[in-house]
Amino acid sequence: MNFDFTEEQLMIRDAARDFAQRELLQDVIERDTNAIFPTEHVKTMAELGFLGMMVDPKYGGAGMDSISYVLAMEEISKADASAAVIMSVNNSLVCYGISKYCNESQKEKYLAPLATGEKIGAFLLSEPEAGSDATHQHTTAEDKGDYYLVNGTKNWITSANSASTYIVIAQTHPDKRHRGINAFLIEKDTPGISLGQHEDKMGMRSSDTHSVMFTDVKIPKENRIGEDGFGFKFAMKALEAGRIGIAAQALGLASGAMERSVQYSKERKAFGTEIANHQSIAFKLADMAVKVENARNLCLKAAWLKDNGKPFALASSMAKQYAADIAMEVTTEAVQIHGGYGYVKEYHVERLMREAKLTQIYEGTSEIQKIVISRTLLRD
Ligand code: CAA
Repeated sequence: MNFDFTEEQLMIRDAARDFAQRELLQDVIERDTNAIFPTEHVKTMAELGFLGMMVDPKYGGAGMDSISYVLAMEEISKADASAAVIMSVNNSLVCYGISKYCNESQKEKYLAPLATGEKIGAFLLSEPEAGSDATHQHTTAEDKGDYYLVNGTKNWITSANSASTYIVIAQTHPDKRHRGINAFLIEKDTPGISLGQHEDKMGMRSSDTHSVMFTDVKIPKENRIGEDGFGFKFAMKALEAGRIGIAAQALGLASGAMERSVQYSKERKAFGTEIANHQSIAFKLADMAVKVENARNLCLKAAWLKDNGKPFALASSMAKQYAADIAMEVTTEAVQIHGGYGYVKEYHVERLMREAKLTQIYEGTSEIQKIVISRTLLRD
């Protein structure tokens, strides 16, 4: 077993670290406070090839592997998890879904602008009454012969306003339940689409999250992804890949909080010595380090399986559940180590803690990951 990274993987990690620390970190508190979308930073991420990292260069992608994606996501998330979720949704739900399951003409039309970052994408699965229970789609896509008519509401959509291309999951044959669901490529400016208000979130405040309403939206037949009724499986497959990205995001939140805690405990003095010399603090740091290392290994294992064409659904759910849960624990301990300073914005750890909470909720809650993991165990 080889735990070494290639030179290329290390170069990508270093480029991501450099960009995150020099650029993203500088104005992240202001963007978080005022919920400002990182427009200029997203352009730089596009120039760095971070928006279509694993897309074939023939469609404008960077042709990198998923290991590099995990390394880059960790570094970006340490500085700004909002930028990281924009990157993750575009890479692994949208670009991966199109690369893997769309036909050639759909790829030619939609993939290149998304892979280069000229446009960004959003993934519209969740609904007001269908979050975890994703088979119960209420949004309908009626087959009208030569087009589909889409009606319904999608909720908590990352990049809903800034994205130009939507992947929308909707029910075409309610009698067939999840086997009647379809997935569609839809341009945001199609008549009949409107946005709800910007969600005022607890964390990841500078990614733009809205509900999206569809009223008699006409979609050409050729915009359906795959065979009639493939939509739910498509969504599950895209989420398998998406969970690697969010696991790496949670990892970055945890490792970022740990690094800040190590630094702070070597500087801060109490009871006549640096607080790192107190066993109560040193043990917390040790616990953080073990959790971060375990999460990193799970993320890299899932990425390695994907890169090597092996099944990775179980590994990506394990990575997502574990990394998200330890991100919450590690960031909470980081606030504790920082004491009063941890509770104010300047030291960043309170933001990391708010952001970690979302990693336990989106792209499948920690409980959903446990359902996926336990069902795999019980089936095998
Ligand atoms: N690959 C292929 N097919 C799959 C699959 C997978 N990974 N997982 C399930 N399926 C198939 C099943 O085989 C089954 O099909 P058949 O009946 O034809 O065999 C069908 O899907 C239904 O599966 P289940 O019977 O297991 O359905 P369930 O309702 O019991 O459980 C679930 C499904 C796992 C809970 C699923 O609904 C789920 O993952 N929910 C969470 C949804 C989620 O992650 N939402 C995140 C929104 S996206 C987001 O957050 C993006 C963002 O903006 C950041």
